[in-house]
Amino acid sequence: MGRILVCLLGTLALLHGVQAIGQDTCVTFTASRGAFAVVNSRRVAPILIAEDEWPGVQLAANDFAADIQRVTSVRPSLTNYTASARPSTPPIIVGTLGKSSLISQVVNNTQLDVSSIEGKWEAFTAKVVQNPLPGVASAYVIIGADKRGTIYALYDHSEQFGVSPWYWWADVPTTTRQNIFLIPSGCSHGEPSVKYRGIFLNDEQPALQNWAMEKFTNGTGSPFLNSPFNRYFYVKMFELILRLKGNYLWPAMWGSAFCVDDPLNQFLADRYGVVMGTSHQEPFMRSTPNEFNSSRGKWDYTTNTANINQYWLEGAERAKPFESIYTMGMRGFGDLPLSEETNIMLLESVIANQTQILQGMYGVQDVSAIPQVWTLYKEVEGYYDGGMRVPDYITLLWADDNWGNIRRFPTPDERDRSGGAGIYYHFDYVGDPRNYKWITTTQLEKVYQQMSIAIERKADRLWIVNVGDFKPYERKTEFFLSYGWNATRWTHANINSFVTQWAAREFDLTPERAEVVTGLVANLTRFNARRKHESLNSTTYSLVNYREAENVLADWARLEAASTSIYNSLSSAMKPAFFQLVHHPIIASNNVAKLLINAGKNNLHASQARYSTNQLADSVEEFFEKDYDIEVQYHSLLDGKWNHMMDQTHLGYYYWQQPMINTMPAVNRVSSRKQALAGAMRIVPEGNLGAWPGDNANQCAQGYNCGPPTVTIDNFSPIADRYFDVGAGGPAPFTFTATSNVTWLKLTPARGSISPKAPEQRVFASISDWSQLAAGSNFAQITFTATASEQPTLSVPAMFVAIKNSPSSGFKGFVEGTGVISIEAAHVSRKTIVQDISWTELPGLGRTVSAVTPLPVTDTAFEAGAGPLLEYDFYNFNTLQGRGNVTVIVYMTPTFNFNERTRPLTFSVQIDSFPAVKVQPIAMQAPGDLPAGWGGPDGYVANSIITTSTTFTGVSTGAHTLKIGAMEAGVAIQKIVINTGGLQRSYLGPPESISV
Ligand SMILES: *[C@@H]1O[C@H](CO)[C@@H](O)[C@H](O)[C@H]1NC(C)=O
Ligand SMILES: *[C@@H]1O[C@H](CO)[C@@H](O)[C@H](O)[C@H]1NC(C)=O
Repeated sequence: MGRILVCLLGTLALLHGVQAIGQDTCVTFTASRGAFAVVNSRRVAPILIAEDEWPGVQLAANDFAADIQRVTSVRPSLTNYTASARPSTPPIIVGTLGKSSLISQVVNNTQLDVSSIEGKWEAFTAKVVQNPLPGVASAYVIIGADKRGTIYALYDHSEQFGVSPWYWWADVPTTTRQNIFLIPSGCSHGEPSVKYRGIFLNDEQPALQNWAMEKFTNGTGSPFLNSPFNRYFYVKMFELILRLKGNYLWPAMWGSAFCVDDPLNQFLADRYGVVMGTSHQEPFMRSTPNEFNSSRGKWDYTTNTANINQYWLEGAERAKPFESIYTMGMRGFGDLPLSEETNIMLLESVIANQTQILQGMYGVQDVSAIPQVWTLYKEVEGYYDGGMRVPDYITLLWADDNWGNIRRFPTPDERDRSGGAGIYYHFDYVGDPRNYKWITTTQLEKVYQQMSIAIERKADRLWIVNVGDFKPYERKTEFFLSYGWNATRWTHANINSFVTQWAAREFDLTPERAEVVTGLVANLTRFNARRKHESLNSTTYSLVNYREAENVLADWARLEAASTSIYNSLSSAMKPAFFQLVHHPIIASNNVAKLLINAGKNNLHASQARYSTNQLADSVEEFFEKDYDIEVQYHSLLDGKWNHMMDQTHLGYYYWQQPMINTMPAVNRVSSRKQALAGAMRIVPEGNLGAWPGDNANQCAQGYNCGPPTVTIDNFSPIADRYFDVGAGGPAPFTFTATSNVTWLKLTPARGSISPKAPEQRVFASISDWSQLAAGSNFAQITFTATASEQPTLSVPAMFVAIKNSPSSGFKGFVEGTGVISIEAAHVSRKTIVQDISWTELPGLGRTVSAVTPLPVTDTAFEAGAGPLLEYDFYNFNTLQGRGNVTVIVYMTPTFNFNERTRPLTFSVQIDSFPAVKVQPIAMQAPGDLPAGWGGPDGYVANSIITTSTTFTGVSTGAHTLKIGAMEAGVAIQKIVINTGGLQRSYLGPPESISV
């Protein structure tokens, strides 16, 4: 049985090419007819390359040989081909078209058709050929259209052999195999979807910097800036970028100068095949301001033109031998009181002079072949909107808002520029409203949503992503680069399979277990994307309504348990990789959730005079200590290989910048020896901040002499019971009973014991049989009675109301419960399609279930109510204050007004045949600015949601249809809440209503 299963899975693995992500597989591990043997019974194909090949291809070929050894433990020979060579085993021939004399010979000898790749950027082809060279009967030839085409071909094959691009950077073990074969038709790949695909190492302190200092220096960094980012660090980074099919890098620049810190950095980047650039604020391949020191005068182009031009000239001179992309323009003179118009003129003269420098340096009049980019970041976007233009051959780089929401996409008339457009994106950020730079918080689904619009709108010349300290973002960095390499592979319907394929490759998992890991990753990133750790506090999730905080903790606990079960089942060789990539962020995030929510409960319980306050205080201290233990666990992996990588502080932010040390949230303690004035027992009903008996500000408006609490439930409440917390009001143990004056109410447990060691008991009140209840309100009284030795009996009454509602028979749809109708946007009753556009689910995107968005993304706009519709049938028993009003609250994924200024994002909301109301969720921002409501501690990006509220008047109780109409592309709706009077405060909104 076991064996059969293994065979089956082996076949599956083979068919699906589980060792490689998003590629057509050409590798098998069992022989088949015509297959080319890379390794067969320890005979290994030699690798032939040309002496005149690119050095970068030589380096990659060396890695390729090492990779074959990693898989099979047999190392192939790698030699420069000479005419006298007569390999005894059919060889693998590697080379670059138009560069390698060996490939010229093979092509000439075999008349191989290379037209599919000739002249194509970074394309490659590979296949078995006959008689490629004198005395060689057959070979597997790997041909790149250019240097990186060949390099990618080699690493692509390596990945399929089973070597993860992350074998070093995340310690992913290689699955060993006896044999490797290639199918005769081989593997090939055309031009990538995005020409330049890169990462930006930024905000690299403390983690990456401290780690690199320990691992790549003798404790002292570069003479210039004491930077640890030298050639030893960078060659590891270059190899990884190329293995991930990236080609572009913005180097670390906080306290580093790439070209100066190690004079070999720039040379080696080019040798490896990585195109260098510099960030948007560092023109002309120089680390600015690090390289622009005071001897050159002020960084002010109006007064110091000659010195700044000279500075740039030196940058171009230094970069000229190497493949580079010049950052054009200039930033940093914003503190000069110049009007926008003067700024535009100044910036235009900056670019004109920079162009002259390039013309002089490269000795050409036409500089359009030299890659140049102009980043439209912040105020510069305003200049562009103000009419400033640069030559067409300069790539326009549009930025996100630093939070993963792209500010602007090329409009139709901007899509034909010869320089095209690109995107500068963030996985990590230092700045307002608060940093996010600890561990993974971005959903792949969000990256896909944004970058797929970039593809549709032709922002596809250059993509660069800010990866902060790099390490916590491995998976999404790979997704970003892979998606840019081949955007046709990934759709909203299959991006989940990216993670599944990734999990299968990294951890050598069966498809079933890889699916489990996909779920872990989806939940991890969903929970973290709801709000970044740095912006969470102890009351982010409601401690009293909808059991929100408790459900958040329960979800985290389940996630940690599932991750632990996979982790424990893995071999010790596999554990470090899984820990870094999956398990650590789960346990660390769960711990922060427990820390904060328990601190919130501690504060609340103190105000309620509950003895359990003290246990909660202890638990907060424990979780705070555990946070550091988890950090140490990461740092101790593999004898400290990643020491410092989790140095980032993340607890106790006072303002946008990181705290210098982690700080525990404030906790309270109640007197442990003295009893509450009102007696031994405290009663706290669900949904209430107050506590009984005695006075409490939250019991009633008056705050004293309040009546007993009332708890209400109805038969369409998604949470089917209500609770009362019975707690200790002091050190005296007591027993309690809970009784009611009706038969239809069940109290569980109906009695219990409370003591300092067990100071809380939750009693659930539920309706055993709704059919026995009358329509409308049914009233009950509950009495909690405490008996403590040597104290008088303490009785606390509570009122309970059970409301029985009935929608008309035959109704199908969502039914109001507890005064709201809450609907996950994907759960439609009906949809319509208009001009081939329809609302389509983006699975996993957003804070709860998914989002729906009009696809395909086009430039089409619709009038309110005329676009494709989402329709939801609902039934309400109430209206706001009984006056016939209801409010429709739509939860939208944060998305910028990314069209031209006349077209903000909009959608329509309609009930039945009331007129469709046009909703514009966000005000149009001034060019380069953020829209109102965007920033701030509770702004759209902090909350990771935008809600809009539309009130309809004259809505009767009964059956209705809510219609959401598309008007502009890009709107992604997660959830809809219709408030009929019962909506309570929560972070994620009420749980979804019952649907009949
Ligand atoms: C092939 O020749 C080049 C140029 O001389 C050299 O750099 C490279 O190391 C040689 N490769 C091998 C595998 O010997
Ligand atoms: C191509 O092959 C022919 C013979 O088939 C030979 O005469 C010619 O020299 C070769 N050219 C090159 C560039 O190798």
